[in-house]
Amino acid sequence: MQTWTDTVEHTLTRANLALLLDNRIPAIRVPGFADAAECQAFAAAAKAGRMQYYNVSDRIGYIGLAQFQYRWTKTKAEFLADVPQAQADVQAVFDAARFNPLQRVIALLRSHWDAPVDIAHEDDKPYFAGIVRSTTDKIDLHVDWAPVNSPDYAIGAIDGQLGWNFFAEELQSGGQTHVYNHPWDPRVNAGEIPVSYGLDRALTQGATSFTYNPTAGDVVIFNTRNPHEIAAGTPRPGGSRVSIGSFIGRMPDRSLVLWA
Ligand SMILES: [Fe+2]
Repeated sequence: MQTWTDTVEHTLTRANLALLLDNRIPAIRVPGFADAAECQAFAAAAKAGRMQYYNVSDRIGYIGLAQFQYRWTKTKAEFLADVPQAQADVQAVFDAARFNPLQRVIALLRSHWDAPVDIAHEDDKPYFAGIVRSTTDKIDLHVDWAPVNSPDYAIGAIDGQLGWNFFAEELQSGGQTHVYNHPWDPRVNAGEIPVSYGLDRALTQGATSFTYNPTAGDVVIFNTRNPHEIAAGTPRPGGSRVSIGSFIGRMPDRSLVLWA
């Protein structure tokens, strides 16, 4: 089922933000979100930060946490208990860089939305938002769609999910994100969480696709219910690809909530 009305990048406006949440356009780009000095400071601070790795075999470094990682082996209580440490780890990067991309994104969203915009929360406890990543590896075809991935979390109530990424460093080549306009709607057996990573390529066959480049200084936002993948890249000498991002969900009361 195709839902896009075109295959080009759009600017951030109130109308376009709603269209992106409704999966009617492929992406919004905010060019010049940060200047060269801010990019440099952020990349340096991230590399000096408390970088962790998912496992020894891949080289996807991150600072913070990813809620989805808790879906399989840990409880919601364990997830919420780990949030303060993750917040402290990224706050240390923001402080060292004297630049907080997360707050800048929230401010931008607030000025382009007519309902509250804030970090997601479960009862009174906040989620984590703003995961820092450093990698030039490929990321396989997957979807991020909380109503199916995390139905028993507060974010399972959203009716639209976006992902924003800010790129502090540019690659020499590669590293494009490919998004396929085929909103995920898997058959779900009761009590089961379907696998959403490493999806079968047959799923996107014939789907309209959109590709964007991770240009340093820009923020790009797209609808993560569409299957998407990131191509491997070649870093510049001495560089990597430092980025920060989170999801943005639209709750039933139209408020936007952020989490990673
Ligand atoms: Fe994703």
